[in-house]
Amino acid sequence: MMLTCAQVLSEGKAVGVRLWPVREEKRKAVLATMLKVKEVLFSSEEIEEKVRELAERITEDYQGEEPLLVGILRGAVVVLADLMRCVELPCEIDFMEVSSYGASTSTSGVVRILKDLRENVTGRHVLIVDDIIDSGLTLSYLRRFLLARKPASLEMLALLSKPSRRQVDLNVKYVGFEVPDVFVVGYGIDYAGAYRNLKDIHAVEPRTAEG
Ligand code: IMP
Ligand code: MG
Repeated sequence: MMLTCAQVLSEGKAVGVRLWPVREEKRKAVLATMLKVKEVLFSSEEIEEKVRELAERITEDYQGEEPLLVGILRGAVVVLADLMRCVELPCEIDFMEVSSYGASTSTSGVVRILKDLRENVTGRHVLIVDDIIDSGLTLSYLRRFLLARKPASLEMLALLSKPSRRQVDLNVKYVGFEVPDVFVVGYGIDYAGAYRNLKDIHAVEPRTAEG
């Protein structure tokens, strides 16, 4: 029997994937926020096709180069893993981690570098890969941070973009899908650390009194 995500959550059944990380604290935090996983916004098939398209553009745009794909931990892990395997060029990957929202669904506007790159990006063609761009504050900060190291070029990719939420003007060259102002989870994107392992991308909303 196939259960929807919402059913899995409300009935506490694990179907194929385990929705909760095992850590009890996190589990409590997630439960306390009473979020409800809603409809599928993008199916794994749609995402796969989009990632392939983005990779084709990258392959074309970086002909003769050896780009460095910089994944922003932890949300970009899934999209980066899929993307890099569709890029038909020699390329390298590296990671950065920046502070995120924690257990709130709105941005704090505070960006902190938790993990810096291992690679020297001076003279390299750098492509920042992120899961979702919301206010744009994170990517805007990272862009300035990395430009100071004088890369040969610096572009950005976001699988999802919420244009209506933008607080800064930012030219993101590669955007997978534009989404309205909803909170999303799945395909690497989390809420309080949970739901990253869902194959599709879902919208979540605060749970109403009726559930
Ligand atoms: P920004 O700095 O406001 O653009 O925030 C970007 C980061 O916030 C993304 O890389 C995500 O980690 C997180 N984020 C923004 N919107 C969502 C969402 O709808 N679901 C989960 N994480 C989100
Ligand atoms: Mg992120």
